Amino acid sequence: MEHGALLSAVPYQRLQQMLSKLQLTETELTLLHQHRTIFISKQHEFAEFFHNSFFDIRETHILIERAGSDIMKRIWATWFERLFSKNLDADFVDYLWRIGLRHVEINLDQRFSNLGFSLARRFCHQIAVENFPASLAAEIMPIVDKLMDFCTLVETSAYIDATVHCDLEILKGIADKIRNPVTIIGGNLRRLQRHADPKTALFGDYEFLISSTRHCEDMIADINTYMDIFQRETKPEECMLETIIDNMLEKLSQRKKLDGVKVEVIISPAAGVVRGDPIELRHLFYHTLENAVEAARSAKEPYVRINSAPQENPPHTVRIDIFNNGEVINLTNISNIL
Ligand code: HEM
Repeated sequence: MEHGALLSAVPYQRLQQMLSKLQLTETELTLLHQHRTIFISKQHEFAEFFHNSFFDIRETHILIERAGSDIMKRIWATWFERLFSKNLDADFVDYLWRIGLRHVEINLDQRFSNLGFSLARRFCHQIAVENFPASLAAEIMPIVDKLMDFCTLVETSAYIDATVHCDLEILKGIADKIRNPVTIIGGNLRRLQRHADPKTALFGDYEFLISSTRHCEDMIADINTYMDIFQRETKPEECMLETIIDNMLEKLSQRKKLDGVKVEVIISPAAGVVRGDPIELRHLFYHTLENAVEAARSAKEPYVRINSAPQENPPHTVRIDIFNNGEVINLTNISNIL
């Protein structure tokens, strides 16, 4: 698996936000640094303890054997040393992030990493209890906890990002493989339909098959949209609601999805600007409008209306209604539909 892209996409802002929630202050880090030599002097003891803890678990034993006990002990001792000697800067975050990516690569179950951080926390508490006066130990232990929480958060974030990335890559691979055959089948069906008499049932059958291939093409496009949304960081900004809706209606119209449907847009001037990621808003409106138009098709005179109005509760929000006059879902049958 290629992790270059993921390495260059460390979400520092999101991680910084999490760090601020942990309330790990500079004063606390300074206090911990004043006593770091005692922790660092235990790095090899930690590696030994950590190694022994996982050596007798079947799943982790295999991984340790494969990498080599000495290498793993060196890796864990270095991490322990860096934990107490480095600042929590971008460099250190990169290092923690890489751990998560590497753990996905070697297929380490995330529960074992979590167990590892918990064992490391216990080991540090023991150092504090055995080496510091009780009042100092009581001050230092919560700082160590926060530091460990931070490591867990960064490692887990990287682990989840890499796992989602793998799943999306698989999905994209399938979509790419299906795209060509679907396009070829659609093209051939259109060619055959041109030779059929529009009055015959065969012509209608072709029409049905062509619309099914179109559905498949739409599904492939949806997968790409899904990939797009999950692979980028959200960047909110002020957006003109009407412009986004108009652009999406234009796009739907170019794709012949609005044919025969009357669409009305009523945007209140007081609810014309929203804060959101413009790309995500475009996807959102494209798909909800497409859905509304498809639902409206069951009506004699299909109609879709979009209107926006300012809302007081919650404050500074906008309510957007998308109405269609298609068939109303029978609530008693909804569980069958889902
Ligand atoms: C506190 C939890 C853990 C920490 C901080 C940690 C740290 C690390 C680090 C720093 C690396 C090297 C990353 C790189 O390539 O830059 C690594 C890789 C690895 N970790 Fe962990 N680890 C933890 C838990 C575990 C557990 C429980 C296992 C189970 C055996 C494990 C197995 C491995 C293996 C096999 C590698 C790859 C070694 C290689 O490159 O050959 N880790 N880990």
